[in-house]
Amino acid sequence: MVRLPTTLLAACGLLAGRALAALEVNLDDKESIKKAAALVAEDLLTFYRGDEPGWVPGILPGPPPDGDYYWWQGGAMWGALLDYRHTMGDTKFDDTIYEALLFQVGPNNDFMPPNWTASMGNDDQAFWAYAALLAAETGFRDPPADQPQWLALAQAVFNEQTHIDRRVEGGECDWGLRWQVYRTNNGFDYINTVANACYFNIGARLAHYTGNNTYSELAERTYQLIDRLGYISDQYDVYDGAHLPDCKEINKAQFSYNAAMLMQGAAFMYNVTNGNSTWETRLDGLADGILRVFFAQDGVAFEPSCERPPGVCNADMESYRGYMHRWMANSIQLAPKLLYNKFMPTLKTSTAAGVKQCTGGANGRMCGFHWTTGKYDGLLSASLQMNVLGALTSLIMPEVPGPLTNKTGGTSKGDPDAGLEKTEMPTLAPITTGDKAGASILTILIVTGALSAFAWMSLD
Ligand SMILES: *[C@@H]1O[C@H](CO)[C@@H](O)[C@H](O)[C@H]1NC(C)=O
Ligand SMILES: *[C@@H]1O[C@H](CO)[C@@H](O)[C@H](O)[C@H]1NC(C)=O
Ligand SMILES: *[C@@H]1O[C@H](CO)[C@@H](O)[C@H](O)[C@H]1NC(C)=O
Ligand SMILES: *[C@@H]1O[C@H](CO)[C@@H](O)[C@H](O)[C@H]1NC(C)=O
Ligand SMILES: *[C@@H]1O[C@H](CO)[C@@H](O)[C@H](O)[C@H]1NC(C)=O
Repeated sequence: MVRLPTTLLAACGLLAGRALAALEVNLDDKESIKKAAALVAEDLLTFYRGDEPGWVPGILPGPPPDGDYYWWQGGAMWGALLDYRHTMGDTKFDDTIYEALLFQVGPNNDFMPPNWTASMGNDDQAFWAYAALLAAETGFRDPPADQPQWLALAQAVFNEQTHIDRRVEGGECDWGLRWQVYRTNNGFDYINTVANACYFNIGARLAHYTGNNTYSELAERTYQLIDRLGYISDQYDVYDGAHLPDCKEINKAQFSYNAAMLMQGAAFMYNVTNGNSTWETRLDGLADGILRVFFAQDGVAFEPSCERPPGVCNADMESYRGYMHRWMANSIQLAPKLLYNKFMPTLKTSTAAGVKQCTGGANGRMCGFHWTTGKYDGLLSASLQMNVLGALTSLIMPEVPGPLTNKTGGTSKGDPDAGLEKTEMPTLAPITTGDKAGASILTILIVTGALSAFAWMSLD
């Protein structure tokens, strides 16, 4: 069930008596795109309560059953808004974004706040690092010197995930980053693409921002690992992952964000190496794979693992295509010769379809999940607003300056040793009924063949 935010309910009252207006946009007119995106951003923020008394800053209502969203999706939303802000020049949400990111850094300045660590996956932590990286890459307001800095926060996450505590030692899966941080959680023995691709992506971006070669080397090593495990096929299908002990039985479910974050990381490496041919081959292959697998239906985004029967989507999966559109556009910035003509026509057809179905909700312009049908599907969530916001953003992003580095005006202060001193694990609560419920849901889904359940970011 989706709970209507009270701000939205209040808007109902205001709108009563006024004609409802569907979201409309002329995709050939930049001002029209900006106007539409501003409305979608405003509607996205109606799901956020963290700036109201009694609610926690930084996060969307949750985690289930207290609300629809896991902790990581807060980080994902701030990333979407930072890209929107940089691309469209709308600084209206700056204070909200700033407060949200700093509120969730935790006592060790590494996006491990004690409230959420018990169910922490390496991918969950990484989505907050993505937001911090975007703040650095887009020149977002730096915190004062006595506060954590954007670059150092991302370095802390990267360094912790480099640590062997988070990894497999020896055997077929050697050096694989585990999905979950703690051994008591489901998925501690799942060596999946998303955790490793997040780490790869952060490494490539740290290499780009700082010019420090250690990050490039770790990114290269990670790409080779994911490839060696067979998670990237010869046709650049990107699979979900496999379990210990040998990582042999690969779950072949495909999700758009896995392929897109590998592709974006490859675009950063291609840029860092000034067009190295190995990275060009990987980038080109991943880019073609994305168009083939996730835009097969007339160039409109489609998430096969959940939109094709018997797939089921949860709120996590419903948000993947928004990241995909933004990361495609960001990759165009980093490799324009290779990707501009390849991606732009598809970004445009997909965005047009995304906007077309935004005719729902109390204000008559909320967006649903299914973009290929041309009709609003009755769903309401922050993820669905984020998707259309990401798509609109992707159409303009290639025209604005690409990610900053510390040589091209980036001002965020780093700390290459961030996160290194903190290797002790917090004491963990015994497994709760919630964890057990998660485990049995997972088992049921595996037995019934809905393997896409593995892509859940936080099962607790
Ligand atoms: C942790 O939870 C408490 C109790 O709900 C809340 O007051 C606090 O703001 C939360 N902190 C973070 C970082 O989420
Ligand atoms: C950029 O980062 C590198 C690596 O951390 C550092 O050596 C260099 O001094 C930095 N450059 C500037 C201009 O801050
Ligand atoms: C290009 O990158 C690959 C992978 O990192 C590396 O093995 C190769 O030596 C690089 N080629 C050049 C010409 O630098
Ligand atoms: C690297 O990215 C910049 C924009 O950030 C772009 O101008 C440049 O052409 C890119 N380099 C390559 C090799 O594509
Ligand atoms: C480069 O990164 C590595 C790994 O974090 C770090 O040990 C080293 O000090 C960094 N070098 C510079 C010049 O910042």
